[in-house]
Amino acid sequence: MQKGLLTILAITILAGTGLLMNSQSQEQNSFLEDKLMKEYQIWQQEHGKRYSQFENTFRFGIFKKNYDYVINHQKRFEAGLETYELGMNSLADLSVEEFEGIYLKWRYNNKQQSNEIFEGGKGIQIPEFVDLRNDGLVSAVQNQGNCGSCWAFSAVGSLESALRQSGVQNVELSEQELNDCTKGQEYDSDGCNGGFMFEAFEYASKNGIAIKSEYTYVAQDQECQSKKTKTRFTFNGYIRVESLNSQAYLEAASQHALSVGINASGINFQLYRKGIFSSKCDGKVESLNHAILNVGYAPDYYLLKNSWGLSWGEAGFIRFARITDKVGQCGVHQDVTYPIYKKNSSIIQ
Ligand SMILES: *[C@@H]1O[C@H](CO)[C@@H](O)[C@H](O)[C@H]1NC(C)=O
Ligand SMILES: *[C@@H]1O[C@H](CO)[C@@H](O)[C@H](O)[C@H]1NC(C)=O
Repeated sequence: MQKGLLTILAITILAGTGLLMNSQSQEQNSFLEDKLMKEYQIWQQEHGKRYSQFENTFRFGIFKKNYDYVINHQKRFEAGLETYELGMNSLADLSVEEFEGIYLKWRYNNKQQSNEIFEGGKGIQIPEFVDLRNDGLVSAVQNQGNCGSCWAFSAVGSLESALRQSGVQNVELSEQELNDCTKGQEYDSDGCNGGFMFEAFEYASKNGIAIKSEYTYVAQDQECQSKKTKTRFTFNGYIRVESLNSQAYLEAASQHALSVGINASGINFQLYRKGIFSSKCDGKVESLNHAILNVGYAPDYYLLKNSWGLSWGEAGFIRFARITDKVGQCGVHQDVTYPIYKKNSSIIQ
């Protein structure tokens, strides 16, 4: 893949020099088209994508457009104009409009403001670098699939970290239960159409939450099946980190995985491959559209765990620029929560 990309890059530059005769460049074009088609087929195999002939032509068209975009971005990166790289990940055959429509359904909900708030600033010392993965506090990267359940994955990620902090290792909890069971009168969540982490924490504190193997993920909305499960973990509420307070954010992040909302719009986030993501974006509360998990920081970035599988970003993670703007990169300081788990509070039936 990498080698192929370089070949295409070389050809693109060659074609761009304008020194080729017309007929030669036509030959060159169809050669390029063939090479790209091969790249596309390899990519399809890698990501298990199969389409009808009609859709395949359409998808290939989008793939080509994204490929061009990635190559141009790569040139800018190599010229020192960008701090991060893009790549042809599993979302590379979606137009940016499709990507946003499928994956970015999450919205901010201000009903949650009444909860206990962590303000920080009490002069505590925090490390310069934190990566909770090194402390065994971060569970494996998951893939939400074609369902707008990012919020359930963000919530489960921080619930699992809270368990690990209490010495409960290797427990995976059920995103599907949160997806299916936080609809209706008491909760405002709407499954694959988006939901709320604070509601997930409230739900897991009131009802407990099943382990994943007893309530498996199917990436679509179902009736709530919590009654059929046996092994459940009950939590003890959650803490809200004060909005727009980078000091409180860091202090909380030095100890806990944090569920956060961000504005993930745009092709740069869609095709992010590695490096420090610094793409300009609107960080207003109304612009937040994706939920994700903060699991560390460094002087120049926050480390976030996404739920789009291992092929996206840095093996499922993204380093988000740590900027002085109050709202943080893409609004990351706006909506920040983490759950509480006290030992011995679980019901194991
Ligand atoms: C996210 O930021 C981008 C760049 O500023 C903006 O175009 C987009 O509208 C924002 N997303 C939302 C949902 O507001
Ligand atoms: C937690 O449960 C274990 C086993 O049931 C018990 O031995 C221990 O004392 C309990 N700890 C607390 C803090 O209640």
